[in-house]
Amino acid sequence: MKPSIMVHGGAWKIPDETHADHIGGTYVAAKAGWAILAGGGSAMDAVETAVSIMEDDSTFDAGIGSVLNRTGGIEMDAMIMDGQMLALGAVGAVRGIMNPVKLARLILQDTDHSLLVGEGARRFAESKGMRLCAEAELTVPREIERFRLLQQEKDYHLSDGFTPDPMDTVGAVAVDVAGNVAAATSTGGAHYKLPGRVGDSPLVGSGAYADNHTGAASATGHGESIMKVVLAKTATDALGRGLSVQEAADYAVNHMFERVGGYGGIILVDCDGQTAFAYNTPHMAVAWADENGSILARIKE
Ligand code: GLY
Repeated sequence: MKPSIMVHGGAWKIPDETHADHIGGTYVAAKAGWAILAGGGSAMDAVETAVSIMEDDSTFDAGIGSVLNRTGGIEMDAMIMDGQMLALGAVGAVRGIMNPVKLARLILQDTDHSLLVGEGARRFAESKGMRLCAEAELTVPREIERFRLLQQEKDYHLSDGFTPDPMDTVGAVAVDVAGNVAAATSTGGAHYKLPGRVGDSPLVGSGAYADNHTGAASATGHGESIMKVVLAKTATDALGRGLSVQEAADYAVNHMFERVGGYGGIILVDCDGQTAFAYNTPHMAVAWADENGSILARIKE
């Protein structure tokens, strides 16, 4: 099986002055994931590595650079899913760790559970030797400034942030040489969200899904819309009905808009390693390995 990878760095109105950072950040992530696959490594390792690199890049709303909630704190969501046995690990509203996707992988591997949230998730991270960090290590000046502006907007509603300004949730999908598919998604969520708000990213079938029988998907955009239409599973189910990978990605995003008026995007890989993406926002940041293993990174308009 020829391996394949695609990553995303969010779908929204990406400001012109940050296009280079988005292209660079997704490029580096896709390249690292591709190196693992090309060396015979697993799709799970590839998507975890790609997403953790984007968590470490303050360009994106995940890990360092996460958006601030209504009390100025950072609560992060992430999921990783293995298409072989439909195994998944996810974390919701976790504070004070650098790499939520790595914690999600540990939940998958080392517990009987699929989703840990809040303080319990943080305590589990500590028990596994993950470094706990101060919120200041995750907080960037861009988000402090945004938080201060939003504090002054008395009538701000969460969905305002997604029409057309969702943030930079990150994700990756891959197929490895053994034919196993995997998906991972990570986010700081929606800016100015209520404390305790969990978005689509750690919800199986919404923010990500992976099944060796169909394919793997990672979503980005307005979480409250994505979860209503179970966007990632909608896309992989469409593959199962015989749609091409591009048709399935388009179908899922169009369905979300027609059914609930939601904005966002999705990346998708089928079992043959064909990749596609779709979005209904002004921009989407994506990178992938082409058939020669060259990495292409774009801000699509
Ligand atoms: N899609 C990211 C979120 O809504 O939290």
